[in-house]
Amino acid sequence: MGKILSFTSGKGGVGKTFCAVNTAVELAERGFRVLVIDMDINCSNVFILLHVKPENRFQRYFENVIPLADTIITSDFGVDVISAGVNILGFIQFENEYNFNRLVRDLEVIKENYDFVVIDHAAGIRQELLKFYQISDEIVFIANPEVTALTDLYRVIKVVSANKLCGSLNLLVNRVKNIDWAVNLYREIQAVMKKFGIPEDLHLLGPIVNDEEKVMLSIQKRTPLVKLFPRTPIKGGFALATTRLLYKMGMFKDSDGGQKAFSKFF
Ligand SMILES: Nc1ncnc2c1ncn2[C@@H]1O[C@H](COP(=O)(O)OP(=O)(O)OP(=O)(O)O)[C@@H](O)[C@H]1O
Ligand SMILES: [Mg+2]
Repeated sequence: MGKILSFTSGKGGVGKTFCAVNTAVELAERGFRVLVIDMDINCSNVFILLHVKPENRFQRYFENVIPLADTIITSDFGVDVISAGVNILGFIQFENEYNFNRLVRDLEVIKENYDFVVIDHAAGIRQELLKFYQISDEIVFIANPEVTALTDLYRVIKVVSANKLCGSLNLLVNRVKNIDWAVNLYREIQAVMKKFGIPEDLHLLGPIVNDEEKVMLSIQKRTPLVKLFPRTPIKGGFALATTRLLYKMGMFKDSDGGQKAFSKFF
């Protein structure tokens, strides 16, 4: 049965798309069948990072012309993609609860063909999109050490928790200078959750370091960073985070579960 992973954040621009795409490719490299769905419909950019042409397929699904299965595009990186592409105006009329409910139902059928469906969300949480969080097995919050980004992240965690949207919360700290930043941020978020009486556990998946040059090159070459630079700290960060997520979900084969690598890393 396919698992749904939602990548989300409070503030925009913290690296949701970058982290969702690279985690998806990392999962595919380990032999899992993966579908990435770009739910940031108005500012869709998954298709750029995975170098595919959406050709208005997603819009034609919303127009009821084609089934959801026909919107799926195969990328060169071992993952399938559903993306809105660049036609923003074509979507505005379809963004309503009825259509999103239909998409949720269809997604629950499609996910049976995959091990993982990775959803790249738009920043923040919108009422009509809450259902996508409800059907998620894991939510991965992307944080970076910027103060305003953190304040917005608390708001999103509160909404997810108050609505019991998902039982399993994870944190990926992006764009850190060093590992201490990630651990400190994690502790800080945990303390705030406790203070506000948010009962859920937050599971630290790990840090992803800041590397503007390599991230830029990977975008220019339209090749996910974990493929283009397989021996870099960022690749190591995604490998570790993926191992920890799989272990937590009972899907990692090694009994160590990345613990050794994790403690070495920290
Ligand atoms: N670890 C990193 N090191 C350097 N640059 C990064 C890193 N992660 C992301 N970036 C850059 O930060 C910018 C924002 O990343 P991204 O588009 O993934 O964020 P987002 O949260 O999806 O944004 P939005 O809310 O607009 O969807 C991009 O230019 C991306 O290349
Ligand atoms: Mg994005």
